[in-house]
Amino acid sequence: MSVEVAVIPAAGRGTRMRPATRSVPKPLIPVLEKPAIQYVVEEAVGAGAQEVVFVLSDERILHHFTQGPPIEGLEDVGFRYVLQEEALGLGHAVLCAKDIVGDRPFACLLSDRFPLPGSTLLAEMADAYDGHMVLALEEVERDLIPLYGVVDAAPVGDRWEVSGAVEKPTPEDAPSNLALVGRYVFPPSIFDQIAGAAAGALGEIQVTDAIDALARSDGAVGISCTEDLLDTGLPHGLAEATVAVALARPDIAPEFRRFLRRQLAD
Ligand code: G1P
Repeated sequence: MSVEVAVIPAAGRGTRMRPATRSVPKPLIPVLEKPAIQYVVEEAVGAGAQEVVFVLSDERILHHFTQGPPIEGLEDVGFRYVLQEEALGLGHAVLCAKDIVGDRPFACLLSDRFPLPGSTLLAEMADAYDGHMVLALEEVERDLIPLYGVVDAAPVGDRWEVSGAVEKPTPEDAPSNLALVGRYVFPPSIFDQIAGAAAGALGEIQVTDAIDALARSDGAVGISCTEDLLDTGLPHGLAEATVAVALARPDIAPEFRRFLRRQLAD
């Protein structure tokens, strides 16, 4: 099934990327000459999205896409946005998009992580969508479990049947080592689950709590993410993303490879 609308929550304060985020919203920090969030938008469009809904704290991110000449490859995309007035959590951010999304299924992409351009992960997730939520999952090391939403899942062929999820558990309490990586395909019923959820981990309205409720009542499909998702929300992740994207760029890679070899030889 194709998923025509993508929601990209991007209202975070970016405290882990200060001082850059004193003046630039985190998703506009560039990886080479392109803001990180443009990779995320291109990923969504590559998977079939025709409409992108940003959840923002101000309009600067929207302006990158809508002011000036259209961006190549994104000319036909409808850009919409909604302001998240208060930072009440990721679940609340997703809920802010409810009036625009309406009763359509939608992809949700977190803006501080993206796979290398050309990834088929989100298209595979949209294909797998049959009315049940589809979640991208990644096995993580035990000590990293408290950084993620973690699912309860059983393997079915090369996929997972997900029966629950918990946000940022301790390694002892985690139902598995399968983490949510920030790529989701949701049925519109997720909005009711979020609206009904109380504040969870960190006192925030967590999308993972709504995922847990929906997985328990309707089931959910998990798809293993076999590619590295680059994490531009942290300084070392931004360095890794820059290196990975540069090495994947035919116009930059040959000279950059030589530069890296010289650096590593010192
Ligand atoms: C968010 C989600 C978490 C998910 C993670 C993926 O956490 O709440 O469930 O596993 O993104 O990166 P954050 O990184 O915003 O703390």
